This record gives sequence, C-alpha cells and structure tokens, in this order.
Amino acid sequence: MRMLKGKKILLGITGSIAAYKSIYLVRLLVKAGAEVRVIMTPSSKDFVSTLTLSTLSHHPVLIEMFDEQSWSNHVMLGRWADVMIIAPLSCNTLAKMANGQCDNLLLAVYLSATCKVVVAPAMDEDMWNHPTTKENLRKLESFGNSIIPVEKGELASGLFGDGRMAEPGDIIEFITANFFSKGPLSGKKVLVTAGPTYEAIDPVRFIGNHSSGKMGIAIAKELHHRGAEVTLVIGPAATEFSANGINLVRVTSAEDMYKACHKVFADTDLAVMSAAVADYTPVTRAKDKIKKKDERLQLELTKTKDILKSLGEKKKPGQVLVGFALETADEKKHALEKLVKKNADMIILNSLNDTGAGFGHDTNKITIFRKKGKEIGFTTKSKDEVAKDIVDTIIRFHYA
Ligand code: CTP
Repeated sequence: MRMLKGKKILLGITGSIAAYKSIYLVRLLVKAGAEVRVIMTPSSKDFVSTLTLSTLSHHPVLIEMFDEQSWSNHVMLGRWADVMIIAPLSCNTLAKMANGQCDNLLLAVYLSATCKVVVAPAMDEDMWNHPTTKENLRKLESFGNSIIPVEKGELASGLFGDGRMAEPGDIIEFITANFFSKGPLSGKKVLVTAGPTYEAIDPVRFIGNHSSGKMGIAIAKELHHRGAEVTLVIGPAATEFSANGINLVRVTSAEDMYKACHKVFADTDLAVMSAAVADYTPVTRAKDKIKKKDERLQLELTKTKDILKSLGEKKKPGQVLVGFALETADEKKHALEKLVKKNADMIILNSLNDTGAGFGHDTNKITIFRKKGKEIGFTTKSKDEVAKDIVDTIIRFHYA
C-alpha cells in the first residue's frame, strides 16, 4: 500500500451494478496516498453519485467532453496518470474500447492514454461467456491492457457464477504488484518461450506436439511477479490465460518463434526457453490440401533452427540464458551436453521417467544443471511451484 503514495490514478467508472464497489476503491486509493481523478460514463450516473465520488477523491468528477464553458483535455488526463483503471468495465464499454469508438470522455481518455491501462470487468455470467466478450477481451490484451479476471459469486441477476468484479482490495494489490513494486528483477527485460510449434504440411494439416505451454506461462508470470518486464513468445497452446502485464507474442511455427525471439534478444537480460520447438519441419508446404491418393505418402522434413543455440551464439556478457531438456534416457549426460552445446547458463531437466513430469501434467519434477556447481534436484510439485523454484534459482545465482 505504501507504494501507492503520490501515484496518479485515473479511475474510469462505467454503467454496472458493481459501480458501488468503485466508491470503496477510491477510498482505499486515497487512503494509500494516491492522487485520484474519476471519470464516469454518462450511464454510470444511474448507479453511483458524482457527489460521493468527488467528495472522496477531492476532485470534481469528469463526465462530459465539454460543456458550454469548457472542454476537458482528454489527452492531458491520459498523460497525467501513472495508471488508468476502468472498474467496473461494462460489456458496452468493453466493446467500444475493443473497436476504437469514442463517444464519451472516458473513451477519449482511454484512446489517448499513454499510461498503463487496467480493466476490471463486471457482467452477468452469460455475457461474460459470450464469444464476443472473449474476443473483445483478447483484443484489449493485444493492445497491452491488463485484465483483472472476474470472480465467481452471486451476481446482480440473482444467479451464481462468473462475472463479479474483483474486490477493490484485489485491484489495489494487482496494480501495486504489477506497476509499483520493486522486485529483485525490477528493470530487467526477460524473454520466455512456451508451448508447442506447428509446422504446416498443407493449409489444413500440421506437425505439432502435446506441449500445453503451462510451464512457460507459469515461469513468465513468476518472473513478472518478481518485477521483470516479460515478453512471452508462445506457440499455439490451447491454454487460456490472462497476460496481465506480460507482453504476449503469439506465433505458430518454429521459424516464427525464432524470428520473434531474435527481434527482442539483443535488448534482453534473461531468456528462458521452455517451448517445445519442433526439431523438423516439412521441406515444402503444399499450396492446396493434399488429396488422398496413394497407399503411402512420404513427407520430407528438414531441421528447424535451434533457437536456444542461436541465442547462445549471440549471448553477450551479462545476458543469462536458461534452457530446458526433456529426456527419456541418459538424462544427466544429455542435460550437461546441452548446457555446453547451446552455451546456456542453466539447463532445467524434465525426465519423462519421473511420474508427474512433462507434457500434459499439472505437476513437474525438475533438476537444474549449471556450468559450474552441483546439480540441484527438486521434488514433484505443481507447475506454479516449479516456476517459483526456477525463478528463485535464477535470482540466487545471477541477481542476488
Ligand atoms: N530448443 C530451441 N529450438 C529448437 C529446439 C529446441 O530453442 N529448434 C530449445 C528448447 O526450448 C529447450 C532446449 O532447446 O530449451 C532443449 O530442447 P530439447 O527438445 O530437449 O532438445 P533438442 O535440442 O531439440 O535435442 P534432442 O531433441 O536431440 O534432445
């Protein structure tokens, strides 16, 4: 809470029953020492009073773009703030934000905001689950906005389910952890790869693998939690997750992943390569769908570029490179070979011989190898806990 002292927060309130929680949010922010300005959409006035909000925030509430006498400078408001929070975010404002519409002051400020934007949606469960809502949230995420997921509970409709806006205390915790805390990796730029890659055979078929991306996502989140600025390059994993402040780059093939990694690596302090990158890709991609004709079909494959190895070749002093090894036999020998061959500082070994480790499981069992020093073994744990162990070990040897 202390970290919010003097921070400039712009709070946008939209028309939703959950707007009553925004009153308490303003109260908590002001109590924590933040300077708060409130912008409301016209329809939100039906849910909370401007008098309450202006009194608690110690500033007039802004609603209209202009009146007969003056014009609200939306560009300056978006530049003034350290963070813009939109809570509650209604379905209607979400749709407008996703499509760049600008028919009120809140939307004009959002579109011109240069600060971080965080939204806390609130809606009924069926609206929350509608594909349009999901699509709009994905769009917002791709614009770099953070989304604080809804909670399960009693809804205004009387139904019970997903859709409740996050509690004010959780919103404060989120912005503190994401924007104002100084973790051990604060100021460090980190690259993480995750998930499988798909190598196209023809327009409808591909060669892929069963990687869920869960391990890499957990690592990216943990690194972000410790203050790092994280870019997560993720293959087509099915896992739905909310990026919440992580820069997300979605790719499909090994070649796409290679390009995305090289684009950011020079400016990266630490890279953790947890993706299950295809080792081979079809030599040619058929333009049209391959028809079923002959009894046998031969596919010619060629090696993909080894991303970890190529980054190892480019690595400059001070850059830290962490790779994974998935082995079924002679685990330790292969892990140590990869450490040298790929010029990595650390290799995290998953042995498929260990129960609960590797693809498809929610748990993992790892051993960490370093160029110097003893190997470090861990017990079988959830992937989130394993991510903590990995990040703790990286910090211990490189950033402590
Ligand atoms: N890796 C990569 N690019 C590739 C293949 C692998 O960056 N084209 C990375 C993985 O993300 C992982 C490490 O290299 O961090 C080791 O991957 P693994 O599949 O265990 O090893 P390979 O190098 O592919 O060797 P092999 O398949 O012979 O075990």
